[in-house]
Amino acid sequence: MKKHELKIVFVEYDAVEKLSSEDKKLVIMAKKAAKTAYAPYSDFHVGAAVLLENGVIVTGNNQENVAYPSGLCAERVAVFAASSQYAGIAIKTIAITAKSTKFIVDSPVTPCGSCRQVLAEYEHLQKKPIRIILSGEKGKVFVIEKVDDLLPLSFKADKLKK
Ligand code: THU
Repeated sequence: MKKHELKIVFVEYDAVEKLSSEDKKLVIMAKKAAKTAYAPYSDFHVGAAVLLENGVIVTGNNQENVAYPSGLCAERVAVFAASSQYAGIAIKTIAITAKSTKFIVDSPVTPCGSCRQVLAEYEHLQKKPIRIILSGEKGKVFVIEKVDDLLPLSFKADKLKK
């Protein structure tokens, strides 16, 4: 028997204003994207902004549907759009944020398991880490240096063959 322990490292900032100007810009883009989310069922508006290695920023937001599972999270809308429009260009950073029409989101939003899985595949494919910036409407901001920290031991394509 062997016990393994995994360590997750992330950096906490007191506010968006404490970030570098590049990171701050990305969070602002994510906040702007959240404003046009289609979220009439949850009233939880999520925005994501993806910075590519070529400097392009692609944004996305959550798109809900009355058949609930048919909707899609902001992160996947953004990274799928980036991958379809800029295939093969690595993702440097993704900023994710959320606001609600019912309450103040005062802590960082953290991506769901499916979005972590999708991000993990792109990170594995590009062989370079994807930084993740998590924020709410106000309050603290978390910065994580790689998706592998968010989803350790993820299921990868190499498991499909011997
Ligand atoms: N949602 C996202 O877009 N990203 C997340 O990280 C968490 C959840 C969306 C899905 C759904 O439209 C709404 O937020 C409530 O779960």
